[in-house]
Amino acid sequence: MRIFLDTANIDEIREVARWGILSGVTTNPTLMSKNSGMTHEAVIRTIAEIVDGPISAETVSLDTAGMVDEGRRFAKWHPNVVVKVPSTPNGWGAVKALKAEGVRTNVTLCFSANQALFAALAGAYIISPFVGRLDDISEDGMQVVRDTVEIYRKHNLPTLVLAASIRHPVHIIEAAKAGADIATVPYDVLLKSTKHPLTDKGIENFLKDWQTFTTDQSEKPVKR
Ligand code: E4P
Repeated sequence: MRIFLDTANIDEIREVARWGILSGVTTNPTLMSKNSGMTHEAVIRTIAEIVDGPISAETVSLDTAGMVDEGRRFAKWHPNVVVKVPSTPNGWGAVKALKAEGVRTNVTLCFSANQALFAALAGAYIISPFVGRLDDISEDGMQVVRDTVEIYRKHNLPTLVLAASIRHPVHIIEAAKAGADIATVPYDVLLKSTKHPLTDKGIENFLKDWQTFTTDQSEKPVKR
């Protein structure tokens, strides 16, 4: 399973790109609105300079023609741009039209395996089931990921399953176990997932023991 960063914050992307584990980025209008002072195009182009992988840019039109127009415009910004459209009949129509022009799509705001099936049938490159938002209303968000993976594998549908709306470190593990191709993770969740107190303690102890060892050695008489 690949890890994408769910952010439009350039500093966060630069930091995680440094770790060697980052394969792509997802943005949405909410994340974009936190990035003051830069245009949509400038943010996406800057991300593309940092990360060599799919970068999702979201449309805001409600009709198919509008989504297709936006998608065509976004796709000119960089070859790695993937156009995000919502899980609606108009969104699936845009997926089909954009695919015919060679533009890849990420179908977002997916909350059911039926929506995921329809996105794949329309030719989506990525489907994004939202785990956390379903958990928030007392449903099992990860079950949609599991069902989608099972349906796609059973019917040889090539659409990639991207677990979205990830809220805590265990979601990443569960998405990987469910067979998701990608998890898109907010920076704070990713940071929490890197840490283990035993790793920090282990490093501290090794450094202490190494200092004792080298101090002992320096006190031994040098043989000539
Ligand atoms: C990803 O593509 C989505 O935009 C994102 O994961 C939504 O997450 P949220 O439910 O935390 O807003």
